Amino acid sequence: MKAVAIVSQKGGVGKTTLALNLAFALARAGTRVTLIDADPQGAVGHSLKGAQGSAGLHGFAADAASLGSALLGTRIPEFRILPTGAVEPHQAEQFHARLSDGSVFGALFSALEASSDLVLVDTPSGFSGASMGALRAADLAVSPLQAEPVALRTLPQLLAVIAALRDEGRKISLAALVICMLQQRNSDSLAVAEEVWARIPADLVLETTVPRDAEVLAASAAGVPLGLMSRLRPPPISLVFDRLAAELAPRLGLATDGDDGPIGLFA
Ligand SMILES: Nc1ncnc2c1ncn2[C@@H]1O[C@H](COP(=O)(O)OP(=O)(O)O)[C@@H](O)[C@H]1O
Ligand SMILES: [Mg+2]
Repeated sequence: MKAVAIVSQKGGVGKTTLALNLAFALARAGTRVTLIDADPQGAVGHSLKGAQGSAGLHGFAADAASLGSALLGTRIPEFRILPTGAVEPHQAEQFHARLSDGSVFGALFSALEASSDLVLVDTPSGFSGASMGALRAADLAVSPLQAEPVALRTLPQLLAVIAALRDEGRKISLAALVICMLQQRNSDSLAVAEEVWARIPADLVLETTVPRDAEVLAASAAGVPLGLMSRLRPPPISLVFDRLAAELAPRLGLATDGDDGPIGLFA
C-alpha cells in the first residue's frame, strides 16, 4: 500500500478536485482506494452528497469512533471514503494539534494496509496541522500547480517542506506536480505551463494537465465525481482524470500492465 498526501501551499488550486476525481478514476480501474478528507474547512466532505453521517477522521482522531464505523463505502466497491467528520470551529485547533505529528495518520495507514492499495489524503492548504501530519506519515506527495503566474513562486516552499521532513527522518518524497486549471485559450495560463515544463525536471511534472472547465463546478455543486455526472454522457473532462490516473499509477508504485503499446486489431 502507498499513502499519498495531496498538498499545496495555496488554497483553491484544485487539491480536492484532484483527490476526489483521481481516487474515483483509480478505483474504477480496479485499485482499492481509500480517500481521507483531512480538511475541516470543507473539501471532499462538504461537496459530497451523503458523506455527512460519519464521525470521520475527527471522531477517529479523538478516539470517539472506530475506523470501521467511520469509513464510508461508495457505489464503486474499490472506493471508500473517510470524511473529515463534523469539526466545529472551536474544535479546529485541537483537530490540527492531534494530527500534526503524523502518529494518527500512521495508525490509520497501518489499519488500512490490508484493505487498500492506495490511501489518498486530501489536505487543507498550507503546511501546518493536519497537512504536516499527513506529510509526516505518507510515502509520497502530489501537488497541483495552478496554471497562473503566482504558482511557480509557491513551489520552493513545497520543496523546502519536503526537504525539512526528510531531515527529520521522514520518508516522504514528491511523486508529481500536476498542472491544474489550465486555460487553453489564455496565453498567460499557457505561458505558466510552458515555464513549468521548461524549468522543472520532466520526471516531476505530469504531461497530463487538468483544464479549467465549468463541469468541475457543476460536479462540485452536484456533490459527485465528474465521472458520475451522467450515466450515458459523462463530461469529457472526466476522461482527463482517467489519463491522469494512468500516468500517475506507476509513480505511485501501483501495479500496471507493463509497457503498453499497439494492440493487434485481429485477435
Ligand atoms: N479544473 C477546474 N476547472 C474549473 N473549476 C475548478 C477546477 N478545479 C477546481 N475548480 C473549482 O475551484 C474551486 C477550488 O477547487 P478545489 O479543488 O476545492 O481546490 P483546493 O482543494 O485546492 O482548495 C472549487 O470551486 C472547484 O470546483
Ligand atoms: Mg480542498
